[in-house]
Amino acid sequence: MIVTIDGPSGVGKSTVTKELAARLGFEYLNTGAMYRAVALAVLRAGIRPGDEAAVTAALAGVRVEVPPGCILLNGENVVAAIRAPDVSRGASEVAVHRAVRLMLVAAQRATATGHDMICDGRDQGSFVFPTAECKFFLIADARVRAERRAAELAAKGDVVSVADVMRDQDERDRRDAARELAPMAPAPDAMVLDTTHLTTNEVINRLENVVRDLRACL
Ligand code: DC
Repeated sequence: MIVTIDGPSGVGKSTVTKELAARLGFEYLNTGAMYRAVALAVLRAGIRPGDEAAVTAALAGVRVEVPPGCILLNGENVVAAIRAPDVSRGASEVAVHRAVRLMLVAAQRATATGHDMICDGRDQGSFVFPTAECKFFLIADARVRAERRAAELAAKGDVVSVADVMRDQDERDRRDAARELAPMAPAPDAMVLDTTHLTTNEVINRLENVVRDLRACL
């Protein structure tokens, strides 16, 4: 069974995905980490993430693998390095390029097909797994998302203003929703859940109930 969880930046998809997978005994795939790994590779090579021709040419030397709990770039675990702010911006920029998407979508399908897997991202329900049994699209007020993200960063010792987080978040969301191939969008059969006034645990409980009910009917 494949469950997809899509939505904009900072809506809490990866936390929800991880915990929901643990509760249900599913594996999970954080597809944003794959775009981040490609961005890290091109930034390290001195390539501008927006330069489609250069990024496309560089892909031949980029191998992204996702064994459970890690993200490997050419064999190196880059789980911490991909969280840097320039990599966040770069991931949204490389994600526009067709060759990047085609490479990663193929890897995502190969990883998930035949498994009980929860895949989170922007296009998992709408493009990558159109026949997934259960699809969610999480949304939340932009300011609330930015406040949550700034609090997370502060807990790690990085003090960033809510206004700065919001500016970056808006720019990424706009680019992710406007690109030509597989833009961020809810699939027509996705359940859209507004998490603005819900705790993380409440969100997970709701999703868990839906998946369990659905599984009982399959
Ligand atoms: O979920 P995230 O913030 O780690 O994702 C980083 C960027 O990767 C995001 O701005 C857009 C891109 N992305 C995408 O285009 N498609 C996905 N399925 C996942 C992420």
